[in-house]
Amino acid sequence: MGEGGFRIDPEWYWSRDRADAEWDAVWTRTWHMGPREEDLPEEGDLFLHSLGPESLIFARGRDGSVRGFYNVCRHRGNRLLLGADGPAFARNFTCAFHGWVYDLDGKLGHVPYRERFDPAKIDDAACTSLRGFRTESFAGWIWFTLDEDAVPLREFLGPVAEWLEPYHMERATIVDYKTFEFACNWKTTFDAFNESYHFQSLHPEILAWGNEDAPIGLLGIHSFMYNEYGSPSTLYPEHDKLNPALEALLQASGIDPATFEGKASDVRRAVQQAKRGQQDSSVFPYASLSDGQLSDAYHFMLFPSLHFNLFPEFYVAMRYRLHPDGDPEKMYFDFIMCAPLQEGETVPPYEHRVVRGGEQEVGDVLEWGARSHPVVNQVLGQDVDLVEHVQKGMRSRGFDAPILSSDERRLEHFHRNVDALINGASLKDLIAANPVEDKPTTGGKVKE
Ligand code: FES
Ligand SMILES: [Fe+2]
Repeated sequence: MGEGGFRIDPEWYWSRDRADAEWDAVWTRTWHMGPREEDLPEEGDLFLHSLGPESLIFARGRDGSVRGFYNVCRHRGNRLLLGADGPAFARNFTCAFHGWVYDLDGKLGHVPYRERFDPAKIDDAACTSLRGFRTESFAGWIWFTLDEDAVPLREFLGPVAEWLEPYHMERATIVDYKTFEFACNWKTTFDAFNESYHFQSLHPEILAWGNEDAPIGLLGIHSFMYNEYGSPSTLYPEHDKLNPALEALLQASGIDPATFEGKASDVRRAVQQAKRGQQDSSVFPYASLSDGQLSDAYHFMLFPSLHFNLFPEFYVAMRYRLHPDGDPEKMYFDFIMCAPLQEGETVPPYEHRVVRGGEQEVGDVLEWGARSHPVVNQVLGQDVDLVEHVQKGMRSRGFDAPILSSDERRLEHFHRNVDALINGASLKDLIAANPVEDKPTTGGKVKE
């Protein structure tokens, strides 16, 4: 039970009625992240993206702009494109059923035996053009909403946009993109990535170089936390001594650990100073980042379907999607890694595939190109192995409701907003009603 008696009902994690309510009030009313601009650079380039029951087409048109269309023929409702999620190419959209042909801008062109249709209908573009949905660009990504009347993207993002801009995410490129299919509700996975209280138990290796009591800030309907890297947790044994993980951090920022004279708690500052010294010659956005951002992992929740975990040299987008077969106890989890490339550096094109949860070791699935991180694959594997067990708990008569600590307050904030939309709040009102905290807090206290 949270503040003011708010209760996260376990039924929300498996009930079909609740899933339908979420689709109507949340998923179809908010903005989501779609493909990356670089995925469809030229005219005719497409990107197919599923979201629950909908298959969505993003198409680069002859005028160079990207449009979004529902993947459905206006004649009798056949799916136009049948491929898997991901990039594709077409000169036009031809329906396999009766041969209607649509241009890349969605307008209906050729219709076999056109004269057999009522001209008032067949010549009415509103009636026959592919139905579109709104798209906008931000941070090198194409975002979309299925709500014609939703607020503009920048208004939706609010203060998060300003937090993200110094990272120059538009300069990064996709290094790897994998989709995990889990037998759990989308919120089960979302919750697991929305707090770092679990680091000390599930990911104890992180404590060697980073804290788990991450400062948290609410940013309207969105939120963030950051984990200080180069500063071992006080829960870590011998946390005042250098350890291999800290030495690796020093090395990565160009400091020789053998000659480093500071204490373990000095590593974070040393890393910041080293990167500050490289900012004018670096491909990484050091120059626009704060000192803290030069060392730490900044983790943003973008309501309702995305986390960005940002490091100075790369970032991970974690995108949550409803499963196409409508089962609220299944979901897709997209794990997308992006990094700016050094001058002359190339990485092999990423190979997107869907991996069933637990089917294969995460470490064997993810490829980091030149950005390999020694423990992130292992840490992600620990999360992946867990979520389907938590899902079972939501179904158990032995479980009442989550009991949340201050380190988990982003969860209550998130569920409250989902619940408010389901109970009829308008998105605009919700954005206005949510607090913006400029000073993040740990355990209810402002971080100095
Ligand atoms: S359903 Fe597409 S042409 Fe008939
Ligand atoms: Fe985790």
